[in-house]
Amino acid sequence: MSTETMSKISDFNQKSHDETDAEHRIQVELLNELCEAVRKNSPPTVISDIFQQLVDYSKAHFLSEELLMRQMSYDDYEDHVSDHVRMLDALDEIAASQASGKSVLVAGQAESILKFIKLHIATRDQRFADFLRGVK
Ligand SMILES: [Fe+2]
Repeated sequence: MSTETMSKISDFNQKSHDETDAEHRIQVELLNELCEAVRKNSPPTVISDIFQQLVDYSKAHFLSEELLMRQMSYDDYEDHVSDHVRMLDALDEIAASQASGKSVLVAGQAESILKFIKLHIATRDQRFADFLRGVK
């Protein structure tokens, strides 16, 4: 491989890593906003607005991360994806509580998924980030 090709791959990996990092920040921000809105007893429309943004954003982010993992033949793909599935399931459960007006449940569920996502970012996503940085 030529030096030029190698540096292009390394640029691509660095760029992917930076973009993924930025996406994680937005995801955590949206979750914080959701927890805050639930805590403050904000109107249901405000809560469902934030919630919908979070769901759409998470789905798009997980898909792009999964695509990148496949492109890179990443070795922790299966376990990583099962975390994503678990988070999307948890978001579905929040939607169900929200729809049936159980806002007390929503608060607890939102806090627990926030913890889970933070942990996921600090462990599985971090491992993938290190992997990307290591691939030159
Ligand atoms: Fe992830």
